[in-house]
Amino acid sequence: MTGPAPAATVGDRPPVIETRGLGKVYSPGSQAEVVALRGVDLRIGHGEFVAIMGPSGSGKSTLMNLLGCLDTPTTGSYLCDGVDVSTLDAEALAVLRRDTIGFVFQGFNLLPRMTALENVAMPMAYAGIPGAERTGRAHQALAAVGLASRESHRPSELSGGQQQRVAIARALINRAPVLLADEPTGALDSRTGEEILALFKQLRDDGHTVVLITHDPEVAAHADRTYVMHDGELHLQEEPA
Ligand SMILES: Nc1ncnc2c1ncn2[C@@H]1O[C@H](COP(=O)(O)OP(=O)(O)OP(=O)(O)O)[C@@H](O)[C@H]1O
Ligand SMILES: [Mg+2]
Repeated sequence: MTGPAPAATVGDRPPVIETRGLGKVYSPGSQAEVVALRGVDLRIGHGEFVAIMGPSGSGKSTLMNLLGCLDTPTTGSYLCDGVDVSTLDAEALAVLRRDTIGFVFQGFNLLPRMTALENVAMPMAYAGIPGAERTGRAHQALAAVGLASRESHRPSELSGGQQQRVAIARALINRAPVLLADEPTGALDSRTGEEILALFKQLRDDGHTVVLITHDPEVAAHADRTYVMHDGELHLQEEPA
């Protein structure tokens, strides 16, 4: 990234996401080596809504996987809520993923045989939350995304936008303060995409930190700021003159 990082510290809390010189090389040293990320410095404060754009293959999902602790960097460091994640063992990392980070993928990744309610309730089973509370919270989460009347539907019985809303409810069910979304509106028509976008804005207003990958400049325009990834380098997008 060129230039100083924007001030992302709210009060005296550390940024919720801070990367320093983050780099990722796939298959290092082999003929198939790919340098996917080059020295990414990113600071995102609590409650911010940030968009990441950039061409296909530029490294956006690679960065998102590192921010979600689904993969490890080759170089550099990542501090999540002030904690250097490379110092955490597997168990502590799993707890961080479960309690701090929610994921939404382009393909929804819902379990086809489960109802909407069961899909949303599932992450709570891993968090050791008792059954009655799981069901109660899943009810609430589905109501919050406008799907109270579709609780017992399976994914194949829901529209794309409804499936995506189930995925968002599931991503937030453990009350993770950070939501990472990789092309959440990419598979949706523009009207449904707008509904999902409105939901993200509401989440930001409720205090969530949202990091959104998108190809759509109109979607990115709703973010507090936008970064553009080019060949593994992240740059802050200049405000239009
Ligand atoms: N597991 C992997 N092994 C090897 N190379 C990979 C792997 N994952 C991604 N790459 C390569 O790393 C580069 C960045 O990929 P990445 O998926 O981060 O791009 P992207 O910006 O998300 O693209 P898109 O917009 O198409 O989703 C690409 O050249 C890709 O081929
Ligand atoms: Mg991608």
